[in-house]
Amino acid sequence: MFATVAFSSLSSFLLFNAVYAADGPTLQTRGVIQTFSVCEEIGKAVSSQSAVFYPLHNYPPALSSLEHQKMSAPLYVSFHMIIAILSTSGVQLQILGKTNTPFAVKGGGHASNPGFSSTAGVQITMSRFSGVTYHSDSQTVDIGSGLIWDDVYAALEPYGVNVVGGRVTGVGVAGFTLGGVMAYQLVLPNGTISDITASSNPDLFFALKGGFNNFGIVTQFTLKTFPQGQVWGGTILALGEFDKIATATANFYANVTDPKASIISTFNWDLGIHLGQVSLFYDGSSPPDGMFDEFMAIPAVSQDISSRSFLSLVLSSVSNETSGLRGYFDTVSLYDITPSMLTAVSNETTYWASQLAWEVPGLFLSYDIEPFLPSMLSHGSDSAWPPKRDRAILPMNIYYAWDLSLSDTKMGDTMRTSSSHLTELAVLGGQDVTDAPLYPNYALYGTPLSRMYGDNLPRLQAIKAQYDPNNVMGLAGGWKF
Ligand SMILES: Cc1cc2nc3c(=O)[nH]c(=O)nc-3n(C[C@H](O)[C@H](O)[C@H](O)COP(=O)(O)OP(=O)(O)OC[C@H]3O[C@@H](n4cnc5c(N)ncnc54)[C@H](O)[C@@H]3O)c2cc1C
Ligand SMILES: *[C@@H]1O[C@H](CO)[C@@H](O)[C@H](O)[C@H]1NC(C)=O
Ligand SMILES: *[C@@H]1O[C@H](CO)[C@@H](O)[C@H](O)[C@H]1NC(C)=O
Ligand SMILES: *[C@@H]1O[C@H](CO)[C@@H](O)[C@H](O)[C@H]1NC(C)=O
Ligand SMILES: *[C@@H]1O[C@H](CO)[C@@H](O)[C@H](O)[C@H]1NC(C)=O
Repeated sequence: MFATVAFSSLSSFLLFNAVYAADGPTLQTRGVIQTFSVCEEIGKAVSSQSAVFYPLHNYPPALSSLEHQKMSAPLYVSFHMIIAILSTSGVQLQILGKTNTPFAVKGGGHASNPGFSSTAGVQITMSRFSGVTYHSDSQTVDIGSGLIWDDVYAALEPYGVNVVGGRVTGVGVAGFTLGGVMAYQLVLPNGTISDITASSNPDLFFALKGGFNNFGIVTQFTLKTFPQGQVWGGTILALGEFDKIATATANFYANVTDPKASIISTFNWDLGIHLGQVSLFYDGSSPPDGMFDEFMAIPAVSQDISSRSFLSLVLSSVSNETSGLRGYFDTVSLYDITPSMLTAVSNETTYWASQLAWEVPGLFLSYDIEPFLPSMLSHGSDSAWPPKRDRAILPMNIYYAWDLSLSDTKMGDTMRTSSSHLTELAVLGGQDVTDAPLYPNYALYGTPLSRMYGDNLPRLQAIKAQYDPNNVMGLAGGWKF
């Protein structure tokens, strides 16, 4: 199917490239032809489980699985010029490395930073790695790296078990795996396939936990499962009500220590209005009396809270309000959530909405507070991220979205100003968060590696040098050691 490529597809391919090159970083025509021939070489070499697709020629019907979530990320290749679906053979990486061809690896495609999982070169989608195999004897599950969490929860629900994954519908397994990893199946940069566990290879096991695509391409994760019954929770949306949300959040953080309970409070500017949002969660069919009363009493425009399956909770999450927009994430790591910090975050939302709304078409702003328990990091073992486990960090997610590429720079700059300002206020308020590690899945492009990986950086760089001496993975974007 992929071995023969009609001439017409080459010309349409060049046309496609000309269209997008007007907007993104330019891939020279010489580079295009080179990329094209690299794909032909891969097409000839890969097994029947893999395929190479060319625009307007043999794109598969399920195009959506190849699309990227964030318009700001894929603009560089909105047309996914060529897509190689990887099999477990490492031959693609060998050819990409040998020919020095830029490429990208996409799991769920939720990264918003430019080039992290999109490219002007060869786009690799993991969508054929979609198996879920539950092993009841060892209480583990093997999960293909092309899945989104929704698929994993749905496959595990009949067994009454679950894994530690994303809370919002649509997020990918590969870029967002927080805990409970027992083993990785990895295609090393030299094309060798290797099973990585804590005992088989302590260095790579450490490095892969938070190290993204620096050490090769993960094809499968083995995760620890745990029993899962009904949960309670959902989302409350309110028109404004930022003060009530801030007070209820401060009280929850100060008083609730039950590890089954969790909330995320968000101040939004959406479609020209201030929109307050709270996600409530209790790992049980109903919460203890009174625990969430202050949130339930907030005047709401919608309140979707019930006892339900975990899958139902995740599917009910509001995650498509910005579909089709461009967007970036940024973050502040807090040590403490105080009433004055909450007031500052609420003000930041209101202030930047007033500054930007008339000038930035399609403006969406979101500042969220994640009040985790101080014991949060005590469960895991040594990993690339976080670099320190002695103190929990409470990551804020700052999310801006907008319509047009001409706002990109202004939005990125404003987010940096805003996150720096909130960091300063936290320090003034007595939290020394100047060196608190930033969460790489939220950090804005340009964030120094040392602010995320801290003292782990030298070890990560040494492991990288050992397993990828020719820097093949440097041809793919992302946080690079
Ligand atoms: C709507 C939305 C909700 C979110 N909610 C949460 C949340 O609740 N909590 C949270 O912590 N984060 C959340 N995030 C952030 C999310 O964790 C990150 O964007 C994460 O990286 C997404 O993973 P992905 O597989 O979808 O992304 P991708 O863009 O596919 O990948 C991210 C990075 O991982 C690399 N990668 C992908 N696949 C592989 C592979 N097989 N082998 C090696 N490297 C690979 C990519 O090259 C890229 O650099 C959310 C993001 C969005 C847009
Ligand atoms: C690839 O790298 C691994 C780890 O360094 C090594 O064990 C293996 O022999 C290498 N394979 C080839 C074909 O060079
Ligand atoms: C929660 O804590 C705050 C601050 O410590 C206190 O004022 C408030 O009364 C507490 N609320 C509840 C419901 O216990
Ligand atoms: C988001 O999804 C909901 C539920 O499926 C739908 O009603 C709504 O129109 C969607 N919004 C956007 C912006 O796509
Ligand atoms: C609100 O935030 C802006 C921007 O950071 C700041 O200049 C202003 O002083 C803040 N207002 C209050 C009342 O804190």
